[in-house]
Amino acid sequence: MTPKLIDPFARAINYLRVSVTDRCDFRCVYCMAENMTFLPKKELLTLEELDRMCSTFIGLGVEKLRITGGEPLVRKGIMTFFQSMTRHLESGALKELTLTTNGSQLERYADDLYAAGVRRVNVSLDTLDEDKFARVTRWGRLPQVLRGIDAAQNAGLRVKINAVALKDFNEDELFALTQWCASRDMDLTFIEVMPMGDLGNEDRVGQYWSLKDVRKQLADHYTVTDLAERSGGPARYVRLEETKQKIGFITPLSHNFCESCNRVRMTCTGELYLCLGQEDMADLRPPLRDHPNDDAPLIEAIHKAIGIKPKGHDFDYSRQRADGQVSRHMSHTGG
Ligand code: GTP
Ligand code: 5AD
Ligand code: SF4
Repeated sequence: MTPKLIDPFARAINYLRVSVTDRCDFRCVYCMAENMTFLPKKELLTLEELDRMCSTFIGLGVEKLRITGGEPLVRKGIMTFFQSMTRHLESGALKELTLTTNGSQLERYADDLYAAGVRRVNVSLDTLDEDKFARVTRWGRLPQVLRGIDAAQNAGLRVKINAVALKDFNEDELFALTQWCASRDMDLTFIEVMPMGDLGNEDRVGQYWSLKDVRKQLADHYTVTDLAERSGGPARYVRLEETKQKIGFITPLSHNFCESCNRVRMTCTGELYLCLGQEDMADLRPPLRDHPNDDAPLIEAIHKAIGIKPKGHDFDYSRQRADGQVSRHMSHTGG
């Protein structure tokens, strides 16, 4: 049997995040610049190449596949790709096929996603206020996303909401978001804003709202029980006893979780980034494209890449703004 992917720190890599497009129909202020230049379409891996790449990783022990973007559901033909991954779920090699989406296209695709074997989606939603939503996404429309969430739930998909915690933006909505998710039987994960991308006029330091404070406010209001379980992602979870809801905290800044990292991320052009917060990467497109009928060079390149996975990231707002932070936009690697 082919050896599994083990990195230099003895961490087994079984979670692949795949960005299928760098494009998005929104421009969230913490994710993209307002005038992003997108890649020419010919640079992107084709749907067939994406299939071959993912299938190779699955052959090497990847059990969880998360499709990201940009916004994954704006990639033309993406349902064909989801449908092509169903065979790996059916064979049992793949345990979970899922996606992180802004929700704008869910109304259209929820049923097809369910039919392809997706059971869970993470939807990014930072505010329930229409004006604030339009501001943070630059031009997104909240009702469209809410309809998407309805459609996902009606299709039988479990929805988890991701909210980036932003000082002076959604601090006042902590309980509204929590209650809204509870009323719809949805889990909610808060994310500390990470210093990715050129900051332009954005003041990421000023935007940073520590999740320690979020947790404290929740604990003042609810009975909070720590949960040992992990979903295979970076979040730590608590349960609110009064609402029976799970709340996740993704805390790259205040509580590093890299020691249990199990994931790598691929861009839509086939670059494999070994850590979200580091520049280390390997370009897998040449071994894929140059050897259309032989997977051996690709497998070798993947092993070599896993061999340089760094120990972790070191995001740090106490340093100077640009010093040591990652210049890549979050949309490049899909979070
Ligand atoms: P679950 O399977 O539901 O646990 O999902 P997930 O948290 O793995 O994925 P999701 O796409 O919902 O990611 C939520 C946030 O976590 C995003 O902002 C990601 O950027 C961040 N995230 C995921 N993995 C990592 C990681 O390895 N390092 C850091 N710093 N952030 C990560
Ligand atoms: N910091 C933290 N989270 C971010 N996301 C996008 N950019 C950032 C950032 N700079 C989140 C999105 C989405 C997930 C994929 O990444 O809100 O939930
Ligand atoms: Fe698009 Fe998601 Fe980035 Fe917002 S955070 S611009 S929805 S990819």
